[in-house]
Amino acid sequence: MIKPEKKFRLSQNKNKVKNKKIIVRVDFNVDFAQGRIFDWHRIESVKKTLAELESAGQIILISHWDNPQPGSRAAKKFSFKKILPQIEKRLRLKIGFLKNPDERPKAKINLLENLRFWPGEKLNDRKFGRRLARLADIYINEAFSASHRRHASIVQPPKFLPSYIGPNFENELKQLNQIFKPKRPLILILGGAKISTKLPLIIHFLKKADLIILGGGLANTYLKAKGAQVGQSLIEEKTLTKVKSIDSAKIILPTDFILANKKETGLDKIKPTDRILDLGRASLELILTKIKSAETIVWNGPLGYVENKSFQNGTKTLAQALVKNKNFVLVGGGDTIAFLNRLGLINRFKRVSTGGGAMLEYLAKENLIGLEAILKSGRKKFRPISRNL
Ligand code: 3PG
Repeated sequence: MIKPEKKFRLSQNKNKVKNKKIIVRVDFNVDFAQGRIFDWHRIESVKKTLAELESAGQIILISHWDNPQPGSRAAKKFSFKKILPQIEKRLRLKIGFLKNPDERPKAKINLLENLRFWPGEKLNDRKFGRRLARLADIYINEAFSASHRRHASIVQPPKFLPSYIGPNFENELKQLNQIFKPKRPLILILGGAKISTKLPLIIHFLKKADLIILGGGLANTYLKAKGAQVGQSLIEEKTLTKVKSIDSAKIILPTDFILANKKETGLDKIKPTDRILDLGRASLELILTKIKSAETIVWNGPLGYVENKSFQNGTKTLAQALVKNKNFVLVGGGDTIAFLNRLGLINRFKRVSTGGGAMLEYLAKENLIGLEAILKSGRKKFRPISRNL
């Protein structure tokens, strides 16, 4: 667990940004379809950052969006220029657009083009990182959710500039750190398609958690690894051997399911042609009973095939129970948040981690690449490199 000292937190150093040029790494990697942004959570969170940067001279927001091939025609689809008017309207702000890091910023607040348009970003190229750093005097990381990536905009600027984490990053850490010193019982509920992404977290929490409830593809893979028949259900073949070696009475698995043919079946009745798509009633009941007795709950990953309304019941019922739970409940993960958004429930959760991979990585390793970069920057003396545009 990392608790950054005051000198690494913007909230404690607001006086240092006065009249300075600031680059802020945000995460505007948003869901977008039919010309509309679906989830405004990440974009709206920047308001809090900007409030702390009120006295700054100039602000340049930098972010990636999706994963376009640099230079490809298809990449244009992910140009921030296209969605900037929507962002300006939503935030009620005038924001200048920078085509590249060498352009002269025109407005007080600016947004640079999608960082992944430059190959240097994902290659963690030092020169590209320096080019970004030259835009400013100070670097702020507000992209907790992208801070598990060893990419230039996350790792390089703190090598050249005094650096801080922003208030949203700080809040993410505060929430997640509570899970390392939880009120007990602590229950983890993990679902989603791939167990490989959550395996390090499961292993790390086998000692720390009181229960780990598995659902979705994770449960299918675990059951199959232990020799159960799961028919044609979604599993992750490559992890079967590793999963087989994990044994713990703390792991709770579903015992009945809704199949693709919408019939409810017990685990022992599953046929080789069947496909599990949701929790059965008994499994759901068991989960609801367990969470009633928990003091701390962490949930990441849907427990069924929520893209189809017929198989949402398990995940939806869990979500409805959790919003009513008065204890410490933290939800996270891209698919979980997207689903809670669709249900209109997201705002009823008090603690939401914007990080998918980053949340899992921080919980599993108790560290994060982007955070390490900021802490390392604290040991340096910097000479100004800003281009004084
Ligand atoms: C996220 O949405 O989880 C982050 O922005 C990271 O995105 P990436 O998986 O494309 O690196």
